[in-house]
Amino acid sequence: MKILVTGGAGFIGSHTVLTLLEEGHEVTVIDNLINSAVDSLERVEGLTGKKINFCEGDLLDYGRLRALFDQEEFDSVVHFAGLKAVGESAEEPLRYYRNNVVGTLNLLECMADAGVYSLVFSSSATVYGASENVPLIEGTPLGAINPYGRTKQQIEDILTDLSAADPRWRVAVLRYFNPVGAHESGRIGEDPKGTPNNLLPYVAQVAAGRRDKVTVFGSDYNTEDGTGVRDYIHVMDLAAGHIAALNFIANKNGIFRWNLGTGRGSSVLEVVSAFQKASGRPIPYEVGPRRSGDAAVSYADPSAALVDLGWRARRDLSQMCSDHWAWQEANPFGYTHQAGS
Ligand code: WQD
Repeated sequence: MKILVTGGAGFIGSHTVLTLLEEGHEVTVIDNLINSAVDSLERVEGLTGKKINFCEGDLLDYGRLRALFDQEEFDSVVHFAGLKAVGESAEEPLRYYRNNVVGTLNLLECMADAGVYSLVFSSSATVYGASENVPLIEGTPLGAINPYGRTKQQIEDILTDLSAADPRWRVAVLRYFNPVGAHESGRIGEDPKGTPNNLLPYVAQVAAGRRDKVTVFGSDYNTEDGTGVRDYIHVMDLAAGHIAALNFIANKNGIFRWNLGTGRGSSVLEVVSAFQKASGRPIPYEVGPRRSGDAAVSYADPSAALVDLGWRARRDLSQMCSDHWAWQEANPFGYTHQAGS
């Protein structure tokens, strides 16, 4: 099929583009490169030997987006493009609502006008808010507690209303838990700009010697070792989930929602020690105060994706850490930064 991938130069996007190409699909990527590098796509082309049609553009540029749909005929869209830093979203809510929600509205209008009704949407477990009734199932009441999560929840509502109004829509909503790791080649991976908000990239930068220690945000949670528990999932398992969802909606109308997680939780200290083992590097840490908005425990019940899609995560925490380290060690400053930057 001919697939448009928005935000395809990003961490999850680039790994999904690679998997789509390996499955024989034709891929066009639109990305504004605000939080990604076109190098990721060049490396995906190198890894697959396949060409990617890249369009540098912003979903807020309606004319540009419209022209893309006039020029090319897509069978489906995988929609990753969006701002995704929880803390930043609380400081700049308007930017997040405009970028994520208005950008998606532009995309949906262009799709409908072009008669493209098949969509895989990159949502997030953040829509469940600080819900503690784990394991989280898709029917758990939503309750995002930050602007980023609320943009994802609002987009899910828009998609629900759209598919109720027009049965031609075929929509898969994928709620990711904590995506980590990298392609086994170490050629593509997560390359956050500035100081990483998330645990794995931060720990990886400590292992690489870019940072001196990791701060553990609280050790007084009601968990085995007192630190926060999350459902970390390998980005290649996540990419496979997108293929499975695309195949599912190829001939099913309506809207479908799936958790993409492993169903297992790992604590911060378990991650630190797993990364230490995988990298052979010391990971000094110190315990600091809790981070506001953090839930103590969050992990998925991924059984619906297994039943409906025949999909489940196959890689464990140690593989996530060793693949993440392979990327970080080979690219200590990510894609385009020069050493020392
Ligand atoms: C994981 C655990 C922290 C950093 C967020 C978004 C989610 C998704 C993934 C976009 C928590 C602890 C972290 C650090 C720490 N992003 N931690 N020290 O908050 O579960 O999820 O990122 O879709 O939507 O909500 O991920 O990696 O930030 O935190 O102790 O320096 O690690 O308290 O327990 P989170 P995270």
